[in-house]
Amino acid sequence: MATAQTVPTIKASKRRNGSEPLVMVTAYDAPSARVATEADVDMILVGDSLAMVVLGYDSTLEVTVDDIAYHVAAVRRAKPSALIIGDMPWMSFHLTPTETVRNAATLVRAGAQCVKMEGGIKRIPMMTAILDAEIPVLAHIGLTPQSTNVMGGFKIQAREAEAVHRLVEEAVALEEAGCFALVIEGVPDIAGRMVTEAVSIPTIGIGAGPDTDGQVLVYHDIIGLENRFKPRFVRRYGTAFDDQVAALSAYAADVRDSSFPAPEETYQAKDELTEALGLYGSTNHGNTDQGSG
Ligand code: KIV
Repeated sequence: MATAQTVPTIKASKRRNGSEPLVMVTAYDAPSARVATEADVDMILVGDSLAMVVLGYDSTLEVTVDDIAYHVAAVRRAKPSALIIGDMPWMSFHLTPTETVRNAATLVRAGAQCVKMEGGIKRIPMMTAILDAEIPVLAHIGLTPQSTNVMGGFKIQAREAEAVHRLVEEAVALEEAGCFALVIEGVPDIAGRMVTEAVSIPTIGIGAGPDTDGQVLVYHDIIGLENRFKPRFVRRYGTAFDDQVAALSAYAADVRDSSFPAPEETYQAKDELTEALGLYGSTNHGNTDQGSG
């Protein structure tokens, strides 16, 4: 059984100090949390990617705090050893500190051990409010999907030297503000490396190259259940969509040709019951009048 991960164990996991790379996956329900536990991942992110891979929306802007809380609770029920991170959705930390803390607390009460927030220096006041309420914060910088309308789509960030330096400054400020780790998404490898070198908290990359302190991918991308679009940074380790289509198709064929259910999948009535009901023969499906009297 894997040892339970906590915010301090994750915070201490820096590769340059000899730690193994951290493994983070998203998960949104009890079965996927059980799979993640069997696979011994370090962190489960109940991400706002929920919107796109589970709830069928076209962007992450649609999910609410209550949606995330509902899915955090399902993950918690699986009792994973991984650290559970609740993602703060768009507009849950943009208005007032009071509302921000209340929203973070909703995710903690649902079972999250910490929250993730997109954005850099300009989000520090809201992060500070959450940290003051004893809720650890994982920051998320680089390509932040909640800013899709400002960025003009899901665009790789920090392509210019100046933007890389700014990203490094943001990361240092977030560490100083008290964040225990950083997700860096969608930046050139050099930016992932420079940010990782500049901070003493662990960095977890997604499309940020090989030099971060850990990696995160979306569950449905890893297992191949999401098969519509494959970003460059995704490596598929399974063919879940095709496997599930094959399984359901085989089931449908068996129902249609009446080979399912077979006798061994049927609670066959004992002879006494059949006789008491005045029926003879138990395989007379759809023809139950026959044999009576
Ligand atoms: O919501 C999410 O899944 C994320 C990860 C991609 C980092 O934010």
